[in-house]
Amino acid sequence: MSSQDSISVLFVCLGNICRSPMAEAVFAHTVKQHGLNDKISKIDSAGTASYHVGSVPDSRSTSTCKSHGVPVKHHARKVTKKDFDNFDYVLCMDESNLSDLKRIQPNGSKAVLKLFGEFDPQGERIIEDPYYGGNDGFEHNFKQVSRASEGLLKSLQLIG
Ligand code: 4NP
Repeated sequence: MSSQDSISVLFVCLGNICRSPMAEAVFAHTVKQHGLNDKISKIDSAGTASYHVGSVPDSRSTSTCKSHGVPVKHHARKVTKKDFDNFDYVLCMDESNLSDLKRIQPNGSKAVLKLFGEFDPQGERIIEDPYYGGNDGFEHNFKQVSRASEGLLKSLQLIG
């Protein structure tokens, strides 16, 4: 991929109602803030499980984002094999997501598969499942995905 091409990113968690729609919203907001909409062609999220397909994000995820001025708009969907050819990056939240995704990633598909936390300059690699916890988990997730969003743009050399 040349540096001129625009880049597509898919965020993946288990249910696609807490962490990955938050990551999608925060990354899209960060891209917009830096005026990089022409460099990032597509941002989406999906889940490895199908329990919540069609649902809007968890209200705790939405309210955490809104409290930081980040709009959220998504309906949950399950990740597909085609996603590995439709996106340049598939970025997941924890080791369980990563092993599930490695199992379905077709051989020779184009996507780079990684933990989103690999881009956190503070080195917090795992974005923990907040579903059964309190609001503080969502707030912590928000800080992590904010740092990792900036880190991803830096690693793509789109910001300094
Ligand atoms: P997410 O969180 O993977 O960040 O969307 C979860 C949402 C729902 C469930 C687990 C995790 N669940 O078991 O229903």
